[in-house]
Amino acid sequence: MDAVIEPTGDKIRVLSHRQYDASDQLTPFSVLPSPLDQFRKWFTEAQDYVNEPEAMSVSTATVAGVPSSRFVLLKQVDRTGFVFFTNYTSRKSREIAENPVAALALYWPEMHRQVRVVGRVEKVSTEESTEYYRSRPLGSRVGTWASPQSSVVEEGEVATRFKQAEEKFGVIDRKTELDVPLPDFWGGWRVIPNEVEFWAGKPSRLHDRIRYTRQESSDNQRNKLARPTPAADIPPAMAVPTHGSAPPIATLWAVANHPPAVTTPPIPACAAAATVPAHCFSLLNLNI
Ligand SMILES: Cc1cc2nc3c(=O)[nH]c(=O)nc-3n(C[C@H](O)[C@H](O)[C@H](O)COP(=O)(O)O)c2cc1C
Repeated sequence: MDAVIEPTGDKIRVLSHRQYDASDQLTPFSVLPSPLDQFRKWFTEAQDYVNEPEAMSVSTATVAGVPSSRFVLLKQVDRTGFVFFTNYTSRKSREIAENPVAALALYWPEMHRQVRVVGRVEKVSTEESTEYYRSRPLGSRVGTWASPQSSVVEEGEVATRFKQAEEKFGVIDRKTELDVPLPDFWGGWRVIPNEVEFWAGKPSRLHDRIRYTRQESSDNQRNKLARPTPAADIPPAMAVPTHGSAPPIATLWAVANHPPAVTTPPIPACAAAATVPAHCFSLLNLNI
């Protein structure tokens, strides 16, 4: 059912909302070992159902902790993380420069799915930024030179600057291809995840949540969960059921029935690893 709003006086109240009913059963054993592979799976599926699945919220903060969020377009996902492109003089870029961490959120309402990412942020290499910049339409490349992102502009100033940029680069008819160089104030940021959380909406708000957390070593939660655990030994963190209604022991038994995962030798330095190997993550079921 669609949301129903009731405007009374100066207040608008949202009275109801549709029920979520994702097809997923998210448990530590129904997801892929690497959060990036799991993301790739969901993101690929979203292409068929979701309008603009690459739109994502990026939250940054000043060193004083003042946050700000905005949407950008996810442009690349690989072993190292999530890449978006922007102006390096923008507010978000200034905040990343002084406090190089960010949180991402993607919501795919058509699939009742959400993904959240938290991680440190690094500048994408000039080569990577150039490669992406060259793939953009001519107008967007010229626009990059014309738009002083996040700064206050006079009425009509951006149009004037756009025209000036067109003249500078000799744009004739906006269809004839031209070499417009990458400005040094524009490029990509890569969010290297420390946490990736997958959420599947369920009826009665008993949603499924799975969070991957980067570990110092390969001694991950999934491996621990794979060993049958006597009920008396259930650690509190693992006793949180996937669904609010399911008894904790049911969750554990479901996990315990799964073939034990292969135990990989501990590998230090996961915390600092530039890429995101699956063995560096532990998995937790979360309450809604
Ligand atoms: C769906 C959507 C996609 C967007 N994609 C980008 C993008 O990829 N890069 C970007 O710099 N701004 C993008 N924007 C604009 C940003 O939301 C924002 O207005 C701009 O980056 C300035 O933000 P800041 O002043 O907080 O840095 C997008 C906006 C929307 C609504």
